[in-house]
Amino acid sequence: MATEKTFYLETFGCQMNAHDSEKVIGTLRQQGYRQVENEEDAGLILYNTCSIRDKAEQKVFNRLNDYKKLHKAGKRFGVLGCVAQQEGEKIFERAPYVSLVSGSASYRKLPEMLTRLEAGERRITGLDDRQTEETFETEFTARQSPYRGYITIIEGCDKFCSYCVVPYTRGKERSRSSSSVLAEARSIADQGYTEIQLLGQNVNSYRDPEGKSSFAELLAAVGQVRGIRRVRFTTSHPRDFTRDIVEAIDAIPTLCDHVHLPVQSGSSRVLKQMAREYTRDWYLERISWIKAARRIISLSTDIIVGFPGETDDDFIQTMDLLAEVQYDCVFGFKYSGRPNTPALTMIDSVPEEEKARRLQVLLERQREVQRINYAKHLGEILDVMVEGVNPARGQISGRSSQNKPVNFTSAHPIAPAPGTYQQVKITGSFPNSLVGEAV
Ligand code: 5AD
Ligand code: SF4
Repeated sequence: MATEKTFYLETFGCQMNAHDSEKVIGTLRQQGYRQVENEEDAGLILYNTCSIRDKAEQKVFNRLNDYKKLHKAGKRFGVLGCVAQQEGEKIFERAPYVSLVSGSASYRKLPEMLTRLEAGERRITGLDDRQTEETFETEFTARQSPYRGYITIIEGCDKFCSYCVVPYTRGKERSRSSSSVLAEARSIADQGYTEIQLLGQNVNSYRDPEGKSSFAELLAAVGQVRGIRRVRFTTSHPRDFTRDIVEAIDAIPTLCDHVHLPVQSGSSRVLKQMAREYTRDWYLERISWIKAARRIISLSTDIIVGFPGETDDDFIQTMDLLAEVQYDCVFGFKYSGRPNTPALTMIDSVPEEEKARRLQVLLERQREVQRINYAKHLGEILDVMVEGVNPARGQISGRSSQNKPVNFTSAHPIAPAPGTYQQVKITGSFPNSLVGEAV
């Protein structure tokens, strides 16, 4: 009898990576593999990696080091995702016990690569597909959540922001047809999913290869799929963010009242150096459209501090922008020079301690903004999708349509099931979460 094929997969990085892993797991299962919970039990150990900042990249090499002794037991290692694409065959030099290195643009070829691995090949690469027009679609996606379904609508990125590694790791921008996206949305709605998250590095540059829908039209169509109660999308790029997206949110109640619109910096001078292709005023105009919507739309953003050449004055402009927009959530990062990117040739002029100081100032100030924003919900009744239940503490956790975490209690003897919706009266607030009671 042949020995059972088993794999372990650990995922680093963004939601795109998490969803890629769902597709990779489905593909492996289809090839007769069984997923196991730890490295020790697996015949094949896979890491789906992230290289957005140096710290993320180092994680996978630490992991490989920790587990390399397992190689002696006849296990195989594979490195997938952004570090795989970025480092390519150099990974074989650095970690000779790795047998498979593949970027996300080559996952279509995974079945073939697995067959070669099983046949005993030890230097298998999937690195040459960054210019592909094809997307990775599979009917075998092993979704990790039974109620929130991710759907990729666009892969790759053509923006080439000067600091960003993604165009080099995920390759050329390519959109899926609106009919295949809608078919997937209908199929998961039929399986009982009520929330859909549309994914792409830049969903706003979606171009339907069938020419049927703009991004806003696709968003609206997904929002009208029977059984779907919530639709989210990420990530947006201010350069391509159009007003009809706000109009769609106004028209279709299932489209969540939350937009993540990364600004990166409040200084037009720095934005130019970042090659973001918009100014502070251009960005703020889009914010004003969103703020003019009928529902209050929650806003979140990403900020990079300490970009090469960022002065005190540039940083103050970022702080002013934060004060003006009043975001509900900010992801702040210290600039990290990435291989192949144009910014790497600029002088990384802001010392590490100053980057850390700016980040701390930013996050502290933002905390105060959120303390006030979150307190505005006191007394409101919010529709909360249940995500987890802690029976020991009688605590139920979930999210509002605006994507705010809500922790609540219920007088009902049976706790609500994850994926169900509860009306919750908000009785308390923190800078990052709300507290309430089911009504
Ligand atoms: N250094 C620091 N942060 C970065 N990001 C992207 N590239 C870098 C980099 N080189 C941040 C951006 C992006 C988020 C996903 O990660 O803010 O929006
Ligand atoms: Fe990390 Fe960016 Fe790759 Fe996502 S796309 S895994 S954030 S490097």
